[in-house]
Amino acid sequence: MSATVQVALGERSYAINIASGLIGQNLSDYLPHREILLVSDSNVGPLYLDAIEAQLGHARVLRYQFAAGEASKRLDVVEGIWSLLMTERFSRKCVLVAVGGGVVGDMTGFAAACYQRGADFVQIPTTLLAQVDSSVGGKTAVNHPQGKNMIGAFYQPLSVLIDTDTLASLPQRQWSAGLAEVIKYGALGSLEFFQWLEANMAGLMARDSAAMTEAIRVSCQMKADIVADDERETGRRALLNLGHTFGHAIEAHEQYRGLLHGEAVAVGMVMAARLSARMGWTDNASVERLEALLFAADLPVSVPAGMTPADFMHHMGLDKKVDAGQLRLVLPKPMGSAVITAEFDPDALAATLAECCS
Ligand SMILES: NC(=O)c1ccc[n+]([C@@H]2O[C@H](COP(=O)([O-])OP(=O)(O)OC[C@H]3O[C@@H](n4cnc5c(N)ncnc54)[C@H](O)[C@@H]3O)[C@@H](O)[C@H]2O)c1
Ligand SMILES: [Zn+2]
Repeated sequence: MSATVQVALGERSYAINIASGLIGQNLSDYLPHREILLVSDSNVGPLYLDAIEAQLGHARVLRYQFAAGEASKRLDVVEGIWSLLMTERFSRKCVLVAVGGGVVGDMTGFAAACYQRGADFVQIPTTLLAQVDSSVGGKTAVNHPQGKNMIGAFYQPLSVLIDTDTLASLPQRQWSAGLAEVIKYGALGSLEFFQWLEANMAGLMARDSAAMTEAIRVSCQMKADIVADDERETGRRALLNLGHTFGHAIEAHEQYRGLLHGEAVAVGMVMAARLSARMGWTDNASVERLEALLFAADLPVSVPAGMTPADFMHHMGLDKKVDAGQLRLVLPKPMGSAVITAEFDPDALAATLAECCS
């Protein structure tokens, strides 16, 4: 079971290689470098770095491992990567390899973008979210005390190596959270893929290898197409934020200690669909289909208890804005399509928030 997706970005084009058992194969075609730094976290490193290092032939291989979790996504941790590279006198021809979820990928990419003004970078994503979303598209970042992902760069990897076998060790909640982003691709861009997900969700929940490979392939292809069209998110790339404005409000309200990102996005997609349905842009049957598919992926579909419309208005910045028209939302149209728009009815938004928070 294997597949390849091309990300077409001129001279920065690269391939996403998806296969079961990929990291157990000779990796020197992907990593011909003489100096290799494997970056990982305290959960993933012990599981996979030995297997990867065993496939790197005669290269000089270093490891940098930090405590798992979003709290490590800081500039001083990235500085630790740079210090190691300098202490070990790694040249600009070295490669930094991210082995882990989105936290490892975003940090390693940023470290690579800046080391001697740009060292090579390869992604080996190990969460479903990282495989279908964060490893594709070149956004890298660390958090700043004043905001998530505020310090970063667009920096594309040389290649992305997705070994679907690494998903076997992923905790169930993380698996479902990644599925929220997979479902998002169907909802925003492909009725055919949405229907495929409806038909194959049982297989995906059982982590059937063929189903996983296909879901990851289609998701990467959809993201690659959008990124090739709009690398720096001046337009269409913002469609990928379906469910994210409401979802981010939930995450912020819970101070990032409640729902996981994908779980919050699941709720956010339902809220966006309900707003669309209220305005007649989609129908109630589509909202119910979306809820059913999220439910089948073991994802939440309702706003956390106690959160109010005022909380949403606050975190969406609407209490500070003169009128809601300044806010742009990604809203579903008929199933498999969506628009980015500021032209929604503010009364419908208020009514949707009231309905979703009751
Ligand atoms: N660059 C982008 O375009 C982009 C897009 C979406 C999200 N992100 C970023 O990605 C991050 C979230 O990524 P994430 O959800 O992968 O979180 P994560 O990297 O924190 O991984 C989630 C948890 O799973 C563990 N884990 C990872 N792979 C595992 C495996 N195979 N087996 C067992 N445990 C494993 C990790 O150690 C961690 O505890 C956020 O920081 C977010 O800002 C970036
Ligand atoms: Zn997301």
